[in-house]
Amino acid sequence: MLPFRYNRNFSDFRVMQVPFFPLETILRPIRVELDQAISGVLDEGQFIMGEQVALFEMEFAKFVGAKYCVAVGSGLDALTISLKALGIGEGDEVLVPSHTCQATWLSVLRAGARPVGVSVNGFLIDHQHLEQSISGRTKAIMPVHLYGYPCEMDAVCSVASRYHLFVVEDFAQAHGATYKGRMAGSMGDAGGTSFYPTKNLGALGDGGAITTNSERVAAFARSYRNYGSVQKDVHLQVGVNSRLDTLQAAVLRVNLKHVAHRNKQRREIADVYFSRLSTTGDLVLPPRPMSPCEPVFHQFVIQTEWRNQLHDYLSKAGIGTAIHYPVPVYLQPAYAQLGYGRGSFASAEALGKTVLSLPVWPGMSLDQVQCVCDEVLRFFGTK
Ligand SMILES: Cc1ncc(COP(=O)(O)O)c(C=O)c1O
Repeated sequence: MLPFRYNRNFSDFRVMQVPFFPLETILRPIRVELDQAISGVLDEGQFIMGEQVALFEMEFAKFVGAKYCVAVGSGLDALTISLKALGIGEGDEVLVPSHTCQATWLSVLRAGARPVGVSVNGFLIDHQHLEQSISGRTKAIMPVHLYGYPCEMDAVCSVASRYHLFVVEDFAQAHGATYKGRMAGSMGDAGGTSFYPTKNLGALGDGGAITTNSERVAAFARSYRNYGSVQKDVHLQVGVNSRLDTLQAAVLRVNLKHVAHRNKQRREIADVYFSRLSTTGDLVLPPRPMSPCEPVFHQFVIQTEWRNQLHDYLSKAGIGTAIHYPVPVYLQPAYAQLGYGRGSFASAEALGKTVLSLPVWPGMSLDQVQCVCDEVLRFFGTK
């Protein structure tokens, strides 16, 4: 049976518009700072590998608590280059969560290795299923701190060290998230992140970075991203062109100053969702933040059997939502070569049918958060 209010007529009352992620509105408070940073780069006239890139790398390494940061052209490249820097390639396997963004799996393929899916618990890689997925070819585990939630890194790292595997963190959705006081991106052999504009730390275009404590990994990445060059006209390896634009570095330096405050705003919004939506219909809320994990709510993802109907209902009410991710990567036609099929990971497939991301963005007003809660409650007939 459909929830009570599904067929409500929206034409007879006014509802507030709550966009899912209005970038222009979010950036408005720092627009002057951004304009200054951009015009500074225009004045300097150095658009590739300028000083801004080096400064951002230093500042981001410090923020993450890693010795080195190498800025690259995207999150996908950051993960691919991290794997390559660790010597992972042809014939190797890398364990990845079955529920994640496509780039996690694709980075392994692009490194020449094979992604091996692992069940998820909640929506993070299930460390209790890691051992059974390890084969003689396994070289690394790639935990993804999805939606801003840090994975159980002690458990992941302990399996990795028992089997002599590398750990490459995918922390594209977790800038500033901590596990036992350690930042996402600082706990593995390398970490790869994205600065896609909607990330907690976003650029105004594509960008990514590798963080690591290994001088060797950093040196490989620094050269590989720039045609394998170690110095002008000296190429010791075949590389790629994956440099972070100077303009994006300058923008990221501005955004980095605001990320902690913005993460705090995201947490405050999540608090309201937790307190108002906890006993609504069949809703499953994300885990409440609990020591030792401090998530940063890149997304606030609820689950309901009525996902599609709730999505339509909220859209008619002027509230934007999104689905991360409706189809597991291994069920996409492009990945058929890997040999997975329907039923391979029941937990990931169930998430694909039930997850819905509610709006959560810095600057979202309390009224807007309450409006989302009101409409979700109305949908289930509990308001
Ligand atoms: C978890 C995760 N990993 C990797 C990526 C890839 O980042 P990019 O889009 O910058 O290549 C993203 C971004 O969409 C992501 O969310």
